[in-house]
Amino acid sequence: MFFHSPTYLLAAAFFFCVFTSCNLQKTSDFSTWKTYRGDDGTNAYSSLAQINTKNVTQLQVAWVYRTGDLSDYFTLECNPIIIGNVLYGISPKLKTFALNAQTGEPLWVFDPFPKDSKEGGFNRGLAYWANGNEQRIIMFAGNRMIALDALSGKQILSFGDSGYVDLNKNLRPAGPGLYENVNNTSPAVIYEDLVITGSSVGEDYESSPGHIRAYDVRTGKMKWIFHTIPQPGEPGYDTWPKDAYKTAGGCNAWAGLSLDRKRGILFAATGSPSFDFHGGERLGQNLFGNSIIAIEAKTGKYIWHYQVTHHDLWDYDLPSPPNLVTIKKEGKVMDVVAQITKQGFIFILDRQTGQPVFPIEERPVAASTVPGEQSWPTQPVPLKPLPLCRQKLDENDITDISPEANAFVRSSIKNLIWGEMYLPPSLEGTVQIPGYRGGAEWSGACVDMPSGMMYVGINDIPNITTLVKKTGYAPAEAGKITIKEAGNTLYQKSCSVCHGADRKGNDGFPPLLGVEQRFKPSDVKTIIEKGKGMMPGFRDMSGQDKEAIVAYLFNTNDNRMYTPSQSSEIPTPKTNDKVRYSLKGYVQLLDQNGYPGIKPPWGTLNAVNLNTGELEWKIPLGQYPELVEKGRDDTGTQLFGGGIVTAGGLIFMGASQDEKFRAIDKSTGKILWEYQLPAGGYATPATYEVDGKQYVVIAAGGGGRQRTKTGDYYIAFALR
Ligand code: HEC
Repeated sequence: MFFHSPTYLLAAAFFFCVFTSCNLQKTSDFSTWKTYRGDDGTNAYSSLAQINTKNVTQLQVAWVYRTGDLSDYFTLECNPIIIGNVLYGISPKLKTFALNAQTGEPLWVFDPFPKDSKEGGFNRGLAYWANGNEQRIIMFAGNRMIALDALSGKQILSFGDSGYVDLNKNLRPAGPGLYENVNNTSPAVIYEDLVITGSSVGEDYESSPGHIRAYDVRTGKMKWIFHTIPQPGEPGYDTWPKDAYKTAGGCNAWAGLSLDRKRGILFAATGSPSFDFHGGERLGQNLFGNSIIAIEAKTGKYIWHYQVTHHDLWDYDLPSPPNLVTIKKEGKVMDVVAQITKQGFIFILDRQTGQPVFPIEERPVAASTVPGEQSWPTQPVPLKPLPLCRQKLDENDITDISPEANAFVRSSIKNLIWGEMYLPPSLEGTVQIPGYRGGAEWSGACVDMPSGMMYVGINDIPNITTLVKKTGYAPAEAGKITIKEAGNTLYQKSCSVCHGADRKGNDGFPPLLGVEQRFKPSDVKTIIEKGKGMMPGFRDMSGQDKEAIVAYLFNTNDNRMYTPSQSSEIPTPKTNDKVRYSLKGYVQLLDQNGYPGIKPPWGTLNAVNLNTGELEWKIPLGQYPELVEKGRDDTGTQLFGGGIVTAGGLIFMGASQDEKFRAIDKSTGKILWEYQLPAGGYATPATYEVDGKQYVVIAAGGGGRQRTKTGDYYIAFALR
């Protein structure tokens, strides 16, 4: 094809350098993988071509590293970095390790937690900083940022407070009912001597705000803070109720940041304001929630923003850092920001000004009927590229994999509200399409830098969004039931939304079956009170209520009678005057066998030409063997894990629930090579060269949101 002829590539490289002063080339020639997603622009592109379309079928396992700390639940989402001949990665229990990148032999392992700790987490990568002989790896474990000496793996104790920067500190003034529960699942960005980071915060009322912060990479001292929930006098402040900034949370860049190093501009893409599904306490447009923000990297000063979802009610977080790409539109070379979304859109904006490159229209959307809510009347719709997933549900979209499945889904949506995208959450239940898992997710998009082709994995699975009024914790039968029985009721009320009514966990939330084998009752009480990662703390819950839940979870025979306590009589925690809502559950629209309730494909890989905005090809990615047997080889599966694209003409991608790692021809979408991993590869691979040999490596941790078997593997491939 035109794009892939060698002369064209040479011409493109020349052209690229002349017209963009080698903007990205200077910071990266794309032959190394020193930073998360390959380069500052997070494009996951490599100029290596030793492994290519002609020889990829000869790819073999070069080495396997097992971290040895399998988690029941957490998966490996890590995109490792490679500095020289050392690979740095993360284990399911958040140990950071260094390996010989040629052999997989471990050089050192650093465990951020005390021995035998039950901690673990999702984490997508590490950041590397070097100056003269000093080299540091910056990692996150829970609420702590840690700096390690890259050579020895020793913690640098002069960084932060005895070796730790507590992300919960320096965020906002303390206030009644507020708690900070800041975590980070994506790596920081290094700019000069600054380490700049977003965060992962809770999604409930009173969660922490997602302000973006920069720290001195040597001392860990905070250098600047960008308020993603603006304070009086700052741009965007008037898009919230007057005092909201004191208590509102969310608007966090949890998926990482990208950097235009030459311009000194940092790009953030933020998540929803919290509480995610009802905005009665945050009336207004809610800047800088769900926004692409350009920030001066040195100072944290606001440059521009573009909001992709106004007053979000759908958990439509921007799920990945913006891709920084150079395109050629109608003969004109442009540096742009390309943002994929859970809605399945790609927003392409001028990098300097934030102006749309293709037209975007504000279109009217349905109004909410939930008390206290004032949904935003319009939402932006790019006219190009066209959406990559379905954005409405009609009769014809209901699954056709069997007559039973079709009938099951029809009857399960009978009493729900369904139809267009952006139908607001309701008390009756609304089919939300696209769902919380997109469209696009944290897997991100890779871009073939010379040609401007973007490759992006897309999910196509609706959710059912139902709001319920929050009431006090006390079961109505208080005084007539035992502590253990009360525990069951309390669990269903406060915990089942995330951990499942059957305690088997839920899309993205850990199971609580067998919790007695992993924790002591007192640990669980602490988790309930303080929260953990994305889990909110239940600060107002009385001691008796916590004991009751523990009795239920641990199946202890606590047959004392349950007496209503004072706190459990408060009708709505903290704000008696307002009605608050919670989500009934993170529920996907599924058929009776657990397959998505709409017609396949459910997971696809898409090739979009960013120069023209046109979709060039689309393939289903992943299969269910039992459906293939019935003639359905075209379903795809839910995808978690990004692709990378190389000058060898290949896209490498795991992500699918069938636990396969694939090489795909980037010009045609043809699958050229498949490898059955020992556990799902729900991570973004990396590629690098040592001593003239190209390697491709992927973490295979299984489990997690895909709920397949878990693993602790990093597997590298090379030609013989
Ligand atoms: C809004 C969703 C949400 C709600 C509601 C919630 N949790 Fe969680 N919970 C989580 C998440 C997410 C984690 C994983 C946290 C992490 O990153 O370590 C978790 C972790 C836990 C763990 C540790 C599990 C493990 O294996 O590491 C326990 C125990 C737990 N929750 C108990 C509860 C109880 C009891 C309740 C009700 C009082 C509750 N949770 C309510 C989201 C929730």
